[in-house]
Amino acid sequence: MDYNKHFDIPNDILYLNTPGNGLLPKTSKTWRLERDISFFDTASDLRDKQLEFLVGVKQKVVDLFHSKFEQTFLTPNFSFGYNTLIDLLPKGYRYLVLEEEYPSLQYPIVNRKLNYVQIKPSTQLEEDLSGAIKFHKPDVLVLSIVQYISGLKVDLNFIKKLKKENPSLLILADGTQYLGTEPFNFTESGFDAVASSGYKWLLSGFGNGFICLSDQIVELIHEQAKDIPKPQAAMWANKSLLSTYFEPGHQDTLSHGTLGHSLTFLSDIGLNNIESHLQALKKEAYQLLGERGWLLPHTKRAVQSSVINIQIDPKLYPNLLNSGVKCFPRGTGIRIGLHLYNNLADIHRLINILESIQ
Ligand SMILES: Cc1ncc(COP(=O)(O)O)c(C=O)c1O
Repeated sequence: MDYNKHFDIPNDILYLNTPGNGLLPKTSKTWRLERDISFFDTASDLRDKQLEFLVGVKQKVVDLFHSKFEQTFLTPNFSFGYNTLIDLLPKGYRYLVLEEEYPSLQYPIVNRKLNYVQIKPSTQLEEDLSGAIKFHKPDVLVLSIVQYISGLKVDLNFIKKLKKENPSLLILADGTQYLGTEPFNFTESGFDAVASSGYKWLLSGFGNGFICLSDQIVELIHEQAKDIPKPQAAMWANKSLLSTYFEPGHQDTLSHGTLGHSLTFLSDIGLNNIESHLQALKKEAYQLLGERGWLLPHTKRAVQSSVINIQIDPKLYPNLLNSGVKCFPRGTGIRIGLHLYNNLADIHRLINILESIQ
């Protein structure tokens, strides 16, 4: 399917940097330009209708990812939602985290002086997690669904099973390198929280994100906060306690509107169709890169993500940039991502460029 017609991609650019930041669909870009002008038009009433507008955006998150409306919150980014959440959990909890995890997941545990253990992510990620949970008995497991350097993706069926077997374990996930690549049902996922920024695979630009919470974690937060009086001010009469934490102030409707617009775009195409498109691309990329010995060992797992760390010298990064390839050096290689605006020709072009600069 020719999805790249929905994006502005010049012929001399090979855009593979979705794990850094994703492209905006043309429709979202046009909407932003018009919205900004009409929003600040003195005669406009859009500035007075921000709440209703944001309710509409939240509804799109809820519809696409199957979370509960009252347990979904719009945030400026992943980090705000996640930091707010861990501040609401009992202080004595013990956390299990992965080494080399995105710093916004790991460091808030360190700088709050919380109790934590770390394990190194390996090709047997799920067995390692099971073993560490049995041994360390954490209260909370925190992980990115897709690791930002290596592209290692956790098996989402394992998460469901893990939650069934350990119902009191809270499982908090970062969906930023994952959401937008395939269908995802939060309510059935086994996660107690999934937070995400919108600017990568959700194609929504910066300044927007969200967090979805399970019944269990909401109950726990309410239990912790049972002595707190409801807000008294009339203008907050309808604000839920959780919203006072996760959505404490005014939000940027341009940013969140872009999220809403791009979610409509993704939902119109269908996350199942995006999944099929990416599967075909991944098959080709893993095959051609694997034949050349440029993949990390975990890429042989059945569960594969759209983030690939190509094992070539990161010093070759300037050569890739000179060839129009948008990507980032990360870890021991060069990280790329394949999204719906990429096609098989992009993969062949990349291989040719990689061979020519070796
Ligand atoms: C795994 C992961 N989570 C989250 C983020 C972004 O979080 P934030 O927008 O809060 O900085 C990134 C960005 O690189 C990421 O790779």
